[in-house]
Amino acid sequence: MTDPRFPSDFHWGVATSSYQIEGAAAEDGRGPSIWDTFAHTPGKTVNGDHGDVACDHYHRYPQDFDLIAGLGLNAYRFSIAWPRVQPQGKGAWNAKGLAFYDRLVDALLERGITPHATLYHWDLPQALQDEGGWLNRDTALRFTDYAVTMGVRLGDRVAAICTHNEPWCTAHLGHHSGKFAPGLKDPQAAVQVAHHLLLSHGLALQAMRAAGVKAPLGIVLNQSPAVPATDRATDLALAEREYALFVRWFMDPLFLKRYPTASGVHLYPQVRENDFDAIAQPLDFLGINYYTRIWVSSEEPPRPAPRMDGVTDMGWEVYPQGLADLLTGIHREYKLPPIYITENGMANADTLVEGKVHDAQRIAYLKGHLEALSRAIAAGVDVRGFFYWSLLDNYEWDSGYDKRFGLVHVDYATQQRTLKDSAHWYREFVARQRAAHGA
Ligand code: FCB
Repeated sequence: MTDPRFPSDFHWGVATSSYQIEGAAAEDGRGPSIWDTFAHTPGKTVNGDHGDVACDHYHRYPQDFDLIAGLGLNAYRFSIAWPRVQPQGKGAWNAKGLAFYDRLVDALLERGITPHATLYHWDLPQALQDEGGWLNRDTALRFTDYAVTMGVRLGDRVAAICTHNEPWCTAHLGHHSGKFAPGLKDPQAAVQVAHHLLLSHGLALQAMRAAGVKAPLGIVLNQSPAVPATDRATDLALAEREYALFVRWFMDPLFLKRYPTASGVHLYPQVRENDFDAIAQPLDFLGINYYTRIWVSSEEPPRPAPRMDGVTDMGWEVYPQGLADLLTGIHREYKLPPIYITENGMANADTLVEGKVHDAQRIAYLKGHLEALSRAIAAGVDVRGFFYWSLLDNYEWDSGYDKRFGLVHVDYATQQRTLKDSAHWYREFVARQRAAHGA
């Protein structure tokens, strides 16, 4: 089968985040984040793994960017560690931290790689958590100050600034299931946090625009279609509820100035007058992270998903068509800005044998999702780029270093990087896209 064809100016990239790769946790004046605290709390992560060293990207970024350039990619999505640039989350700025991100952006531009910056990929300064974290409405104001400083500093050199990465995870995994930092288990707190995250996003967009930041501004949401196991009314209702909680919970305030209602949804946050006006700022783009679908069954025990294309090492079903279904669905329901697929990828039980990693499963995953993405584009969704998660094997949060998502294998003992078969496949795929456009 021939390759699907993507637009000529498409952004072909890879994504990472600060805490998952940088390391240098106590270097050059970086303050502690909630992930340092959480990961160093016994029992919170697999093997007690933490990001103290991670991929040592703080020191190795030039070599890592050479890898991206070598793959022929033209875009890179990274996140800024707030406690590296403002150790207490308010007050003094850390010149060395700011200089690091300056160097990082320049190193990308020198290699012809377009930087996409994320302001918040979960590493809140611990000092702000000590004052209530995202449960404290004031954190939205602290975030706005941080956003303006970074926006003014980097906005002339980056192709995109996104406020939050996956606010659903911050809210629910961080404050309801307690799987992620800060580890709270309070469902009412989770919805309040989600509201403060959305508010902080809107206030930050307003303030960055008022400060003259020119870069396109947006937010990244993790989304999945919720697929009922049967077309029985109980399954359909449950699917509607799951979709409301996962997708509409963020889309409705951003685009329609309200929270969704659905049967079975009971918890709502405290909302002040004008909050929705603040939240629903025009978006220059929307980032979507897609990994799998939500399968919904009201039976007891639940009817299992068919899992025709297998499961990943995370136990997540491989379901490429879900990406097309999701995008065409939100395209119908909302007036969308241009879309980037800011994350898509899989964990695989990769092994390095004689300098090679044969990750055929990842190639199949990538190919399937790119084909699904091209179907969504053909159906009219304006998609401008795709970022594979992740460039490197890295610190997968509570799963520690056990789960390998990279196109590039990392030997954590030596920090040796090795391109997996999937990296070669992606390079060749992108090269064929360029050739097809006569570039
Ligand atoms: C997403 C996160 C990212 C990574 C992938 C596997 O939810 O944004 O940091 O952990 O999942």
